[in-house]
Amino acid sequence: MSMKKPILVTGAAGFIGYHLSMRLLNDGHTVVGLDNLNDYYDVDLKKERLKRLRESTRFQFHKLDLQDRSGVEALFRDCSFGVVVNLAAQAGVRYSLTNPHAYIDSNLSGFTNILEGCRHHGVAHLVFASSSSVYGANTNMPFSVHHNVDHPVSLYAATKKANELMAHTYSHLYGLPCTGLRFFTVYGPWGRPDMALFLFTRAILEGAPIKVFNQGKMMRDFTYIDDIIEGVVRVMKKPPRPDASWSGDAPDPGTSYTPYRIYNIGNNKPVELMDFIAAIESCLGIQAEKEMLPLQPGDVPATYADIEDLERDFGFHPKTSIQEGIARFVEWYRSYYAKSR
Ligand SMILES: NC(=O)c1ccc[n+]([C@@H]2O[C@H](COP(=O)([O-])OP(=O)(O)OC[C@H]3O[C@@H](n4cnc5c(N)ncnc54)[C@H](O)[C@@H]3O)[C@@H](O)[C@H]2O)c1
Repeated sequence: MSMKKPILVTGAAGFIGYHLSMRLLNDGHTVVGLDNLNDYYDVDLKKERLKRLRESTRFQFHKLDLQDRSGVEALFRDCSFGVVVNLAAQAGVRYSLTNPHAYIDSNLSGFTNILEGCRHHGVAHLVFASSSSVYGANTNMPFSVHHNVDHPVSLYAATKKANELMAHTYSHLYGLPCTGLRFFTVYGPWGRPDMALFLFTRAILEGAPIKVFNQGKMMRDFTYIDDIIEGVVRVMKKPPRPDASWSGDAPDPGTSYTPYRIYNIGNNKPVELMDFIAAIESCLGIQAEKEMLPLQPGDVPATYADIEDLERDFGFHPKTSIQEGIARFVEWYRSYYAKSR
């Protein structure tokens, strides 16, 4: 598939959107970034990411909200996108308990505007962010896209699952090729300040206690950002085809008779939270003070991705160890905050 037309990356000032845009620019593509630069976390960090992207003449930025229907329509009309990657969303599980409307607004209303833009302007492939959170109450590990995921335990997860359903509908009705990627706990340089690695590193360096949920009995399939980006780029280039073996008599949730596919994108090597903390401590050379707390509402105790489909269809093989990835994050964190504070 041709990647010559401009590529729309929504959430370009966000963690994954920034890295994806940078990689696409380095590969010679023209990238249009959209972001509303909301203050869910440090806006300066989003602006710093954007500043770096703007160093390329092939990057164009639109400060726009996904919910702005006429603004999104105009953007699609003006730009003639080949591929659209929708990463803009209200992220975070815990925040969805206190601010449910933010999830409905961005993840449902906003996503509808993206689907409509793709539908009316002949977009060749819509790749969109789903999440490991959709596995909700499932305990059959590793989590597979072929398992039923009808038991979410947070509104965030419910909106991500809804995105998958909405995309399937557009794929069925309008033949829009759609691929949903269920990201598993992404970490790395320029990462999100509301996520564990960032929170732990900051607290440990400040001598403050870290909050360890579920008494430390948690497992996450932490996936390094460069591995994620490699997977996303491979997926973007190859829109899904209808799966001739799909049958409505025994509907496989991960595939379809339409050009629609769902993939897990994870490391396939879950790490115990206490081992993750030990790796950060060893990297920083400081012992953390730990505040042991119960499991938080909306959280799941473990995630573990079955990535067989992504390996088979795209040759995806994550290669960054947790020690290497944490070291790269800590190096970035120290230099970024040494400069800006
Ligand atoms: N980082 C992870 O571990 C992870 C895991 C699972 C799923 N995801 C999903 O991947 C995507 C990217 O995540 P991230 O970690 O980069 O998050 P992020 O919060 O860093 O990036 C999202 C960006 O979208 C922007 N945004 C939010 N709502 C918007 C709206 N209504 N209009 C325009 N822009 C808006 C934000 O300003 C932000 O810059 C999200 O959809 C998220 O739900 C991330």
